[in-house]
Amino acid sequence: MTILVTGGTGYIGSHTVLALLEAGKDVVVLDNLSNSSEESLRRVEELTGKKVAFHAVDLTDAEGLDALFAAHDFSSVIHFAGLKAVGESSAIPLEYYYRNVAGTINLLRAMDAHDVRSIVFSSSATVYGEHNPVPYIEKMEIGASNPYGRTKEQIEDILSDLAASDERWSVALLRYFNPVGAHPSGRIGEDPQGIPNNLVPFIAQVAVGRREKLMVFGGDYETPDGTCLRDYIHVVDLAEGHLAALNHIEPRAGVFRWNLGSGRGSSVLEVLRSFERAVGHELPYEIVARRQGDLPAFWADASSALADLGWSTTKSLDEMCEDHWRWQKNNPNGYTA
Ligand code: NAD
Ligand code: UFG
Repeated sequence: MTILVTGGTGYIGSHTVLALLEAGKDVVVLDNLSNSSEESLRRVEELTGKKVAFHAVDLTDAEGLDALFAAHDFSSVIHFAGLKAVGESSAIPLEYYYRNVAGTINLLRAMDAHDVRSIVFSSSATVYGEHNPVPYIEKMEIGASNPYGRTKEQIEDILSDLAASDERWSVALLRYFNPVGAHPSGRIGEDPQGIPNNLVPFIAQVAVGRREKLMVFGGDYETPDGTCLRDYIHVVDLAEGHLAALNHIEPRAGVFRWNLGSGRGSSVLEVLRSFERAVGHELPYEIVARRQGDLPAFWADASSALADLGWSTTKSLDEMCEDHWRWQKNNPNGYTA
């Protein structure tokens, strides 16, 4: 029995493929390589000594998906593939709804047609929107405030409706907080295209000399140091969360929602200081205007994942930054070096 990992050449996908292989699972990866490189899988193979079958298929290619399901005996799917840039999603919403929502419907139709009804889905803390108090709890009413977040919310709804219509479905909706870090080997990590949107990849590119300085978006929030608080989670902890979720849902029907976060918030300046400790010197930064759409502070209530899955984060912010820095230093241009 084999697990299909969509988006498995990407950042979180490649770390999860590694964790699955280390747990003795067989894995097939689907990706259209729009935001990743097959090199990540070659390195996962090198780290694990195991082979991973790769198929370059787009989620919008229903025939390609059907052929893939016909060729393999999948037991379950971990579904990472999709577009993920919040800002870009407001500029090209149709592309986001098409790739993320229509693409997922194609995937679910292929799964159903081939009797594969167990899925772990990459949702996001962004589904909690702007109206909920922190920390976020799974039972809160969701309502995203940008097109990217709405694609996640719509997919959550589709999966919930599907499971309600047919009790053979097992669904895990994993709401990730802020994944950072890299495998401690420094061989795989996050390789953003163009200017990084996210904090830690940006700091890493400043540290390696690809960017002049960090722009800290807003220093006048009502937080202890005036900068935003987020719940950062090491990507290796996040990958382990997928295994725990998969093991939990495979023998059970229904829909399960879990926050995957550490349960604590760190400020932008705390992250910068931690990264500086990893690098060994100070890094240039400037406090600039707030970024539109940023919330002052949010973090997870991570108690459900602990209670249900026995999973919690194990790695500190310093370990996230040390591992992220090792990856960036050893691969200054990512996988294209
Ligand atoms: P990523 O871009 O590294 O990985 C996504 C992968 O999906 C890429 O390899 C890309 O090439 C592939 N892909 C995109 N559209 C596709 C399509 N139509 N068909 C086939 N493949 C396609 O991103 P990531 O950070 O690893 O994120 C993985 C998932 O987790 C995404 O669904 C993302 O929305 C979600 N997520 C990420 C974060 C984060 O901060 N990184 C936070 C919350 C949720
Ligand atoms: N930040 C800066 N400078 C930068 C980049 C970010 O100061 O160059 C700040 C942001 O203002 C924010 C914090 O660093 O306060 C974290 O920003 P990120 O862009 O790294 O992360 P977000 O919390 O904004 O967004 C992330 C994911 C989204 C997801 C969201 C909620 O990127 O996909 O978490 O889960 F929707």
